[in-house]
Amino acid sequence: MNWPPNNQAILEAIHGLFDSGQWWIYKGDAVRELERAFAEAHGSRYGVSVCNGTVALEVVLRALGIGFGDKVVLPAYDYYSLPKSVSNVGASPLFVDVCKENLTIDVGQVRSVVRDRSVKAVVGVHISGSVAKVDELADTCNAAGVHLIEDCAQATGAAYDNRRVGSWGRAGVFSFGGVKLMTCGQGGMITTSDPDLYEKCHAIVNRGMSSSWQHNPYSIVGCNYQLSELAAVTLKPQLDMLEELCRARERVISFLDKAIADIDGLTPMSQFPRTTCRAQMRYSFYYSPAREGVITREEFIAEAHKRDIPLMPGYACVSRDPSLFEEYSGNGIFPVALEAGERVVTVHHPYLLNGIDYWNEAVGSLRAILSGR
Ligand SMILES: Cc1ncc(COP(=O)(O)O)c(C=O)c1O
Repeated sequence: MNWPPNNQAILEAIHGLFDSGQWWIYKGDAVRELERAFAEAHGSRYGVSVCNGTVALEVVLRALGIGFGDKVVLPAYDYYSLPKSVSNVGASPLFVDVCKENLTIDVGQVRSVVRDRSVKAVVGVHISGSVAKVDELADTCNAAGVHLIEDCAQATGAAYDNRRVGSWGRAGVFSFGGVKLMTCGQGGMITTSDPDLYEKCHAIVNRGMSSSWQHNPYSIVGCNYQLSELAAVTLKPQLDMLEELCRARERVISFLDKAIADIDGLTPMSQFPRTTCRAQMRYSFYYSPAREGVITREEFIAEAHKRDIPLMPGYACVSRDPSLFEEYSGNGIFPVALEAGERVVTVHHPYLLNGIDYWNEAVGSLRAILSGR
């Protein structure tokens, strides 16, 4: 495993910036080039870089005018930062359940809440890199007159119908945090093809300045959520490598899908058929033994660790997450997310680059654990 990527291109980019003497600069060439190239690679006209993915969502919500009294629909199985981004702009999260097959937001459930007049946006999260049904989500949101935002933090480079995630709704938000598919430690990106929304996001991130560095016509006060030149310069080579690494991981993922399905007691997630590129920050599956008296998920993970197989539990359902439930749990019951919180097992993406031989052996060990050998 080679993580974080320490290849020559990143090193040369850092040296090049250092030699140019421009690494101190606010919004220099590296940031501008990353925004341009990232947006282009994700099928959008504009990119606004930010200091992390949590802020990216907040900026988009603020730019869309979402605040006090508004509701934002979120999946109940998710990374815990999203409800906080919603609360930070003064709005309230409205949770709905997820699809059993891959834990993305359930479009049927979105339909059932989206006509509530206080709902202003839906966040379609591509959790673990599984792409949500973005076409149906976009239709549902358009029909109801609410905004679709895609959270692509775990799916940089994924595509549905050959169209990259982050381009299906009003905006996409991405993270370049430490564990992500592209990383600079702390960073993020907003993508959009809407010029007004772009200018508003730009102003919020860049202390009220428009993209031409004039005061913004929207009179937005803004803050400073900028990405640094040093961070940006490490990301561009990773963007250039993204496609190749996605394809390498996809080969292992296809192998794992078949191998995991073949083990009694484990069930792979399945992707919607129109997913055309799987860019997965995690490979997730269900721990689902049918027999009584078999070991628990936690014991299974501990046994895997003894054999150097890097498994982790998935997230908790929102109503079970201690950092969330006091504030948000009154919101509903989510049987699929609850079950997922107890049964999902995941593998972090760098290990997917260990190759098929490694995983072939690892899967043999997982089978042996489950059959008590
Ligand atoms: C789905 C999702 N959204 C948002 C975030 C927040 O990104 P950041 O850690 O860069 O603030 C994360 C981080 O893990 C995430 O997984």
